Amino acid sequence: MINVAFVCLGNICRSPMAELIFKNMVEERGLNLSFRITSFGTSDEEEGNPIYPPAKRTLLMHGIPGNHVAKQITLRDVKNNDYLLVMDSSNLMNLLRMTCGEYGGKIYKLCSFTPNPRDVADPWYTRDFEKAFADIEEGCKCFLEYLLKEKSEAFEYDKRH
Ligand code: 4NP
Repeated sequence: MINVAFVCLGNICRSPMAELIFKNMVEERGLNLSFRITSFGTSDEEEGNPIYPPAKRTLLMHGIPGNHVAKQITLRDVKNNDYLLVMDSSNLMNLLRMTCGEYGGKIYKLCSFTPNPRDVADPWYTRDFEKAFADIEEGCKCFLEYLLKEKSEAFEYDKRH
């Protein structure tokens, strides 16, 4: 079982998009039994709120339905996950600060797995939800390819069933 948590600031745009995109991707490949996938915000400002409507619309336009309720990440969530995939450098700094750098080995920027490492531009400010979707989708695809190549033992269960 690989525990993956996507993390952004508010947990209403980018990280719930990533959670639903990645869930959809692993389901399509029949790998869902190998994963527990969640998402969180570093801030508590949007706690309890649903996915921001333009983000939800963008997901639906790509055939990805689903809901999420925003939650702030806790130290326990950091401990309980194998991969914490943040959207940008600011999320990375917030998370490293919160954990006093102790869990740095499992915190990655999502797009660091792509051939073009970068931040996922924040659509809250850019208003470009399609661009955020494309960046997140590429990050998720490259992250899954990395796992399949480098951590193939984690998928033995799915291969046997
Ligand atoms: P997210 O987007 O971090 O991708 O969920 C944001 C949501 C809210 C705010 C900023 C970014 N805000 O400033 O309220």
